[in-house]
Amino acid sequence: MLVLGIETSCDETAAALVDDGRNVLAQRVLSQIEEHKPFGGVVPEVAARSHLLHLDRLIAETMAEAGRRFAELDAVAATAGPGLIGGVIVGATTGKALALAAGKPFLAVNHLEGHALTARLTDGIDFPYLLLLVSGGHCQLLAVEGVGRYRRLGTTIDDAAGEAFDKVAKMAGLGYPGGPAIQQAALSGDPARFALPRPMKGRPDCDFSFSGLKNAVRLLIESLPRPLSPTDAADVAAGFQAALVDSIADRVTRAARRFRAEWPDGRHLVVSGGVAANAALRQTLAEVATRAGLALLAPPLALCTDNAAMIAWAGIEKLRLGHSDPLDFAPRPRWPL
Ligand code: KG4
Ligand code: ZN
Repeated sequence: MLVLGIETSCDETAAALVDDGRNVLAQRVLSQIEEHKPFGGVVPEVAARSHLLHLDRLIAETMAEAGRRFAELDAVAATAGPGLIGGVIVGATTGKALALAAGKPFLAVNHLEGHALTARLTDGIDFPYLLLLVSGGHCQLLAVEGVGRYRRLGTTIDDAAGEAFDKVAKMAGLGYPGGPAIQQAALSGDPARFALPRPMKGRPDCDFSFSGLKNAVRLLIESLPRPLSPTDAADVAAGFQAALVDSIADRVTRAARRFRAEWPDGRHLVVSGGVAANAALRQTLAEVATRAGLALLAPPLALCTDNAAMIAWAGIEKLRLGHSDPLDFAPRPRWPL
């Protein structure tokens, strides 16, 4: 089974060819970071135009590298939401057109489902597993029971974790994207110099919140001489990162306890999304998983962040169950799992 995947929901334009033997035959990911950098964040209109400009070529390159023709495909899968709607329309329409022209089924893939099933592509793990999805747009804890069977144990009630990293980095003058900048600055910082809140810690549910922490950092920065000295910036970065990781660890610990009780067959805690690149978070999650009797599994970074291989793979999982979607499937800016 051979499926072409297309991803255009945020600021990566991506195409990939994946087979049902869990092989990524070829893939392309074009990041738009440089185009959005001058604005300090992703500009939806710029993103959509850039997807339109590059997607056809990336698909052609992917097919050529794998030495495959469209006639050999079993289906075309494209992200149909959630995300920035202009970009989603570009990718979904391209996918539909290719499917129609090649006479193949079209699969409208939920971007979050792509992230949720990645660990089955990379490691072939069985259901059920506990998933922490932490990216620039999402922060959720899911019990993944099967394809199309996701039980949300917790979600953010305000910002996503990556969004908090990006906003704090901007306030501290550390640049964009904020996650890598904060992680780097935090290396030389003192996480204990400033007392910052651990949002939601101790609450009985598994939800997240980062806006209170973000505001506390804003007030802290306003109380310091500006522009921030390198030492102050490093201490702010280290303090923020420690507070955020601490808060996430508390939420995941709670979710893991619930997961073990309700899904006793589950063996894995999977972490995915761009924030999964954070070394401090990974280390803490490994400890949380061990304490909970779960194995931590973090797919390789290139498949943790936005990519089209995960979309093609989600397409394969759906196709194997006999699923396909109509060509008038309407792209969805919001589409909870
Ligand atoms: O999954 P992703 O590539 O895109 C989506 O949001 O879907 O995630 C991007 C997010 C950004 O907010 C970025 O700042 C964050 O992931 N990020 C990190 C790190 N690398 C990327 N956050 C913390 N530490 C990092 N090392
Ligand atoms: Zn994503």
